[in-house]
Amino acid sequence: MKGVINKGIQELIEGRFGADAWAEIKSRAQCAEPFFAISEDYPDELTVALAGAASETLGIPVDTLLVEFGKFWVPNTGRDSYPTFYQLAGKTAREFLLNMNRVHEQVTRNAPSATPPVFTYEEVPDGTLCMHYHSQRGLCPVLRGLILGVGELFEEPLEVVETACAREGAPHCVMEVRFQ
Ligand code: HEM
Repeated sequence: MKGVINKGIQELIEGRFGADAWAEIKSRAQCAEPFFAISEDYPDELTVALAGAASETLGIPVDTLLVEFGKFWVPNTGRDSYPTFYQLAGKTAREFLLNMNRVHEQVTRNAPSATPPVFTYEEVPDGTLCMHYHSQRGLCPVLRGLILGVGELFEEPLEVVETACAREGAPHCVMEVRFQ
């Protein structure tokens, strides 16, 4: 996974729990990287190890941390790292979410080993947006957090309900996004 993801974990932990907590998490995860370069590819196992170590060190369930990570990443690490995409990807939360295939495709174009998520969309007449999430990583808690983070970015209150989950045997996860 691209370094911009691990960088987000680091920024979230350091900002909320301090540098000592981050140092302990890195050591528990046996991570020797001095820093994360945003465009460089790091093994997925490292990201998983960091999330697991953070959960153990902080005593917070890993899924709770993953949601918090997603919420934090969109208006912070993501925005700081890709200002141009943020300017172009949409003027509302809905537009931004609908542009995510294009954004992921462009951001990972020169990284053959990257495997970004793919979304298919259903727009329901009552205004609900259903995002079908296709990924081998199965990071639906991160996805929930990222969608909530898009709401925060645009200061639009929104609700996210997972109506199907691959962890429970569904072919893929589906998030219903309700805008208010
Ligand atoms: C401009 C904003 C964004 C940029 C530049 C961006 C970029 C990236 C990058 C570089 C990765 C790592 C891909 C890899 O190494 O394989 C990633 C992963 C991911 N992104 Fe985004 N992203 C953005 C916003 C979002 C939003 C708003 C969502 C959800 C609505 C989202 C969903 C995900 C998910 C779920 C992953 C984890 C990978 C997986 O599931 O396989 N991203 N993104």
